[in-house]
Amino acid sequence: MKLTLSSIRKKYKEKTVLQIPELELEEGYFWGIIGPNGSGKSTLLKIIAGLMEATEGNVLYHNHTLNEKTRRSMTLVFQKPYLLRTTVYNNIAYPLKIRGYSKRDIHMRVNAMLEDFGIEGLRDQKAWTLSGGEGQKVALARALVFKPKLLMLDEPTANIDPSSIILLEEKIREYYAMEKPTILMVTHNIQQTRRLCNRGAFMYEGEVLDSGDVSHLFGLEANPLVQSFIRQGLI
Ligand SMILES: Nc1ncnc2c1ncn2[C@@H]1O[C@H](COP(=O)(O)OP(=O)(O)OP(=O)(O)O)[C@@H](O)[C@H]1O
Ligand SMILES: [Mg+2]
Repeated sequence: MKLTLSSIRKKYKEKTVLQIPELELEEGYFWGIIGPNGSGKSTLLKIIAGLMEATEGNVLYHNHTLNEKTRRSMTLVFQKPYLLRTTVYNNIAYPLKIRGYSKRDIHMRVNAMLEDFGIEGLRDQKAWTLSGGEGQKVALARALVFKPKLLMLDEPTANIDPSSIILLEEKIREYYAMEKPTILMVTHNIQQTRRLCNRGAFMYEGEVLDSGDVSHLFGLEANPLVQSFIRQGLI
């Protein structure tokens, strides 16, 4: 899904936390959104996901404003996984249920996800009893199960142990290779951006300082402040 942001500004009281005059996120790329704490990354994803209104400006999805069909083809996995107060199975089944899939189809797809993520053992466990890392796996499985065209991930592997990071990255990579969705992934892990993404945007104090090919963003042509942050390992 192609995204066009124009004249976006988000204010809390008098404080501007996001200011993006113009940004086009072309379809089919895997974007890494990086930048220090408080630079506006989560705010940006929430506005694109339609969960928060910008104070000014608009976001266009394939040249249209947000509608129900578009909303149903995208998802955001939050920085702190948000799960429904029910079992793991029902959590992963939920996006399929609201999209009208048959019971049999739901059963097949959810079981395949549980197996894929190595969490069959958590099938009937209540979501609120999961560990942080288990919760993140369930949240990602629930996001991928309905094959979104626009997948937004807010620090999907924060608080995850190294072997699970490998697993989650593998699942995200497979999904991207198979479905060619547009992915926006916020991460503080530069190496992860290099491993997974082909595009990148660097945010600082609510602004996109630089964006483009990963090779540009991490190269000597990038904005000097971006280079300095990356060189010093400050994000
Ligand atoms: N409800 C709110 N009221 C006031 N300020 C807010 C609110 N939500 C976010 N902010 C501020 O907006 C700024 C951007 O926050 P945001 O969560 O988008 O940052 P981030 O880049 O995702 O940071 P992190 O890397 O820490 O997750 C921060 O300064 C934050 O304090
Ligand atoms: Mg954040």
